[in-house]
Amino acid sequence: MANHMMFLSLLALSCALTLAFEPSPLQDFCVADTTSPVLVNGRACMDSKFVQPAHFSFSGLHLAGNTSNRFGSIVTPVNVAQIPGLNTLGISLARIDYAAWGVLSPHMHPRATEILTVLEGTLEVGFVTSNPENRFISKVLQKGDVFVFPVGLVHYQRNVGYGSAVSISGLSSQNPGVITVANAIFGSNPPLPSDMVAKAFQLDNNVVDYLQVTF
Ligand SMILES: *[C@@H]1O[C@H](CO)[C@@H](O)[C@H](O)[C@H]1NC(C)=O
Repeated sequence: MANHMMFLSLLALSCALTLAFEPSPLQDFCVADTTSPVLVNGRACMDSKFVQPAHFSFSGLHLAGNTSNRFGSIVTPVNVAQIPGLNTLGISLARIDYAAWGVLSPHMHPRATEILTVLEGTLEVGFVTSNPENRFISKVLQKGDVFVFPVGLVHYQRNVGYGSAVSISGLSSQNPGVITVANAIFGSNPPLPSDMVAKAFQLDNNVVDYLQVTF
């Protein structure tokens, strides 16, 4: 009976682990075949005979992105879209450049925890825990400091220095996804019903109309 219970507990545990995240690869690699009509959870694998070093490579991450936009930040992603060889491997990278006082707006990654390090400048970073606490956890980071954004939580980065800033993040998915809160709420296509958004955010309808045009 004890053995039986233990077996069931282990089964439940292993199911939870395999269902919550992608199963471990069953081959050395599965380079994404972007031309394949086969739809799987991820990309289909290309025939390994045709795999080249370039399928595992990306160049130019030393180059600063152009931060001349209204947010003063730019992300250079390095995930399965840039490196097909990352397919199924559950890991990726991003470089982020920030102009002075630039912001990377509140956003979340539905499929990845993020670990960020500052290469240049001073960044204020923070995330908010889920309901009902909605606790704001924040820190100012200097060059060489590292910070973690747990999977799925809303977070942001802001350059709080007078020069430019650079950070690099590792993410625990080859396809982490990004949901920018403002874009999802005020910039959806087609727009969310503005009276619903006004009530949900306790805003005047005119403010919502303005925000829906802005985003
Ligand atoms: C950066 O982007 C701005 C706005 O799109 C553009 O005017 C400018 O030429 C770009 N700068 C460089 C160095 O590409």
